[in-house]
Amino acid sequence: MTKVAPSILSGDFARMGEEVRRMERAGADMIHCDVMDGIFVPNLTFGPKMIADIRKYAATPLDVHLMIDRPERYLDHFIKAGADRLAFHVEATEIAEENLAHIKAAGIKAGIAICPETEAERIFPLLDRCDLVVVMGVHPGFSGQKYIPQTTEKLKILRAEIARRGLAVELEMDGGANESNAREIASAGADTLVSGSCAFNSPSPETVIAAFRG
Ligand code: DX5
Ligand code: ZN
Repeated sequence: MTKVAPSILSGDFARMGEEVRRMERAGADMIHCDVMDGIFVPNLTFGPKMIADIRKYAATPLDVHLMIDRPERYLDHFIKAGADRLAFHVEATEIAEENLAHIKAAGIKAGIAICPETEAERIFPLLDRCDLVVVMGVHPGFSGQKYIPQTTEKLKILRAEIARRGLAVELEMDGGANESNAREIASAGADTLVSGSCAFNSPSPETVIAAFRG
């Protein structure tokens, strides 16, 4: 069954604890937390304190997606704050391998995120060093964008490579998923689907999460 990770980027930032609980009541498997620095992406969100504070409200794992330049400067802060899965962008660092090892050594899941314009092959050498890959279905920075259909192919390429090498890497599709395309994305190889605007803006997030789960 596909896991569903609502992204709090689409939640009410003034009521984040309640928003997290609302998504968990609706069936969320984990909570996706989008960290943006205004440099790697043209938007700003929150830092480790938000993760530490929502950690007290969340019963499910916190899936932290760093969209920040040179993430190595902040990994320890997010580990300490209580991230359960910590992913950074391959495009944002020159020391991806070192960062993955650092996250794994902390005993949490290490992830690599990949932008729509970056080829899947670029992260092949990192696959045996990470626990998950976050494949972006939109250009990172904002929720509510339209899904870029070509990214489904990237998911398939990664799924095939992971299978060929017998690895246990999880695949997560992030951005642009909705009730119409969720099943297609899942069958292309996504273990987890992120849902920002779709889950949060719905009067019935449980219906959206159930549809995503399949
Ligand atoms: C985009 C974020 C996504 C976003 C998803 O930069 O990484 O996680 O919140 O939102 P939707 O599902 O609305 O595309
Ligand atoms: Zn994200």
